[in-house]
Amino acid sequence: MKGVILAGGLATSLRPLTLVTNKHLLPVYNKPMIYYPLEAMTRAGIKDVLLTSSIDHSGDFETLLKSGEEFDLQLFYAIQDNPKGGISEAILLAEDFSKGDKLLVLLGDNIFNADLKTAREMFEKKTKGAMVFGVRMPTESKQYGVIEMDDNGKVLSIEEKPENPKSDIAQTGIYMYDETVFGKIKNLSPSERGELEVTDLNNIYVKEGSATCELIDWWIDAGTSHDELLRANNLVAEKVRAGEL
Ligand code: DAU
Repeated sequence: MKGVILAGGLATSLRPLTLVTNKHLLPVYNKPMIYYPLEAMTRAGIKDVLLTSSIDHSGDFETLLKSGEEFDLQLFYAIQDNPKGGISEAILLAEDFSKGDKLLVLLGDNIFNADLKTAREMFEKKTKGAMVFGVRMPTESKQYGVIEMDDNGKVLSIEEKPENPKSDIAQTGIYMYDETVFGKIKNLSPSERGELEVTDLNNIYVKEGSATCELIDWWIDAGTSHDELLRANNLVAEKVRAGEL
């Protein structure tokens, strides 16, 4: 299985912090944000990781992360020409890189301590489908994609930032896909916000009946606002001091 970490986007909501740098290079407690998904790849046992970003800061990622040796993996870099083309558009950049292997995709601003190794091994044995990861958020799920699932973990629907969420399960930025993902992305159309949405992609798997959801305990999307970035700094500091991250 190969890894993909997405570090594009414009991060306008974090301006002026992101006027001259990329959001994923900002500090979260004692490390740049991008270290957290990279360390999650290492914990999951992934050896080859493609990092996608836009052209303006791609050199900074290479300067910081080099070959990936520090993380015990090999890093490859790809440029997303339109930084707001959407998460699915960025995943499509991994088509040649994946060489027919399954993919673990992580959003570059997501921080979590779940160990994905068992889920990865389970997913690798499965013949087809997608696995999404959710977290229970009783009051805030509607700020994210919202996952409706049955008692066996089969996904019934995913809605992007719905007014009236069908559940309290927020879709995190952790996704596993089989090799049919690229064909599915090529059939997507841009959403109202002009992006190839990850939720539209995941819903193709839902319609096929091949999407499952795993719940994780602790997760934070550090990149949504100044307040969430501050909250991420404080929470990560607590977790690091407690030896949980
Ligand atoms: O964080 C989880 C949420 O991420 C999910 O609950 C939503 O279902 C999913 O759509 C996504 O929502 P956001 O609107 O928060 O995504 P955002 O635009 O903030 O981008 C998330 C990450 O993906 C961020 O690290 C930048 C990267 N990205 C984003 C876009 C649009 C790219 O690399 N390229 C892109 O074109």
